[in-house]
Amino acid sequence: MPASVLSDWLAQRLDRGSVQPIYRQLHRLLQQAILSRELTAGAKVPSSRLLAAELGVGRNTVTQVYEQLALEGYVSSATGRGTFVADSAPDEIVFDELPSAVEAAPAVLSARGERLIAGAGVSKRQGGAFMPGVPDVSRFPARVWSRLHAKYWRRLRPDLLTYAPGGGLASLRHALADYLRTSRSVHCSPEQIIVTTGIHQSIDLAVRLLSDAGDTIWTEDPCYWGVRSVLQVSGLDLKAIPVDEEGIAPSPDDLANPPKLILVTPSHQYPLGMVMSLARRRMLLEYARQNRCWIIEDDYDSEFRYGSRPLASLQGLDAAGQVIYVGSFGKTLFPGLRIGYIVVPEALSASFATASAELYREGQLLQQAVLAEFIAEGHFTSHIRRMRALYGQRRELMLATIAARYGETLPIAGGDAGLHLVLRLPEGVDDRAVAARALEENIVVRPLSGYFARRDRAESGLLIGYACVPDEEIEPAFETLAGVVDQFINR
Ligand SMILES: Cc1ncc(COP(=O)(O)O)c(C=O)c1O
Repeated sequence: MPASVLSDWLAQRLDRGSVQPIYRQLHRLLQQAILSRELTAGAKVPSSRLLAAELGVGRNTVTQVYEQLALEGYVSSATGRGTFVADSAPDEIVFDELPSAVEAAPAVLSARGERLIAGAGVSKRQGGAFMPGVPDVSRFPARVWSRLHAKYWRRLRPDLLTYAPGGGLASLRHALADYLRTSRSVHCSPEQIIVTTGIHQSIDLAVRLLSDAGDTIWTEDPCYWGVRSVLQVSGLDLKAIPVDEEGIAPSPDDLANPPKLILVTPSHQYPLGMVMSLARRRMLLEYARQNRCWIIEDDYDSEFRYGSRPLASLQGLDAAGQVIYVGSFGKTLFPGLRIGYIVVPEALSASFATASAELYREGQLLQQAVLAEFIAEGHFTSHIRRMRALYGQRRELMLATIAARYGETLPIAGGDAGLHLVLRLPEGVDDRAVAARALEENIVVRPLSGYFARRDRAESGLLIGYACVPDEEIEPAFETLAGVVDQFINR
């Protein structure tokens, strides 16, 4: 096509009613003309002023399109002489049609992608009555935090702005080792601690390094949906083991087939709230030792125990180095911080640190430096102390409100610790329907049955988070929820 008829050719094809901007259409049309050799190599294209006038578009639009085409190698400009089609086009794809007219590739997920999305438990809401698992972030000591941040930004340290060496910042690993030793009875040196973005990533890392696709992992039934999703996409064979009052309760049949990994929440079973008994802890450790399984201990919220002291970790009882301990600042500070930690036996620490840098290309060192100092200056433990008192008070209020409405007719589980409790519903009540109906009233609760892997074992109930609900909202919000619950109970 001679360059002289180019404007007509373009004018016929521009769709001024399209949602696609004129700039983009013009760019694609010129690409198409060059790649299909409608415009031959060396041909001079009209000046931007002329083409803009003939097409009735802004001159800037044409100039930008020419500049973009020059960057991509389709045209070249010679000062004072004009713009010419390049001798060789950047690639040899021949466009027959405008891409907008081409049928889009079907959005087909892999089988595991499909499973992940179909079973996704993540909520669009992350606060308000009665969102479980969320601390009261409005009480975070922002002033102290911003002072520490400002200090690090004032004395800019380039080493804190680059990629992290595997494992995280030494000062944070030291501060964490002290904290975990004294508060959680975890036996560890700073080198055994790998800083991660939270429990999700810690479990992902442990599973990738300690198991292969097809290996079996025992999970508690019920268990936290988030880690179940992480495990599912890693290709493991998940075996849901029931829990009783003492924690995970494998049957003789289960015990006869040792898994590669066992994931437990011994300090505070999630979501039902029981504490694993000492006898069960000993049994599990001995079983893991004899059968060479790894135990992953998810210690996600044990700082918040009301009345009694927090219990020592399972890792602290482990003499054989079979326990991988994971924890997080998500509940103690704020979920969006995305800093957690994994404590591994000494022999694994170098591999975990390398793998973590290799897989996740970690950073956030400045944030880690701030956190290390926040802990070292004592702000972390005092924040926990204050929040424990606050959540303890809200828990009392929650329990009293439930008791006033239901007496003993609806039992409560897991009210001694953590950020939520479970209100059990009579058998047969559809807790998913209750939660969906409550959401219409702007109340978020999670149905207990959704945490069970085995539908035949699923129990009906509601997870009610009270930690993030201001005192004065607890009673009215529960009244609204109770109104919904009653509609289902009294059917
Ligand atoms: C049992 C359990 N483990 C882990 C997590 C998430 O931890 P993180 O935010 O550190 O990934 C949660 C969050 O609710 C949880 O309930």
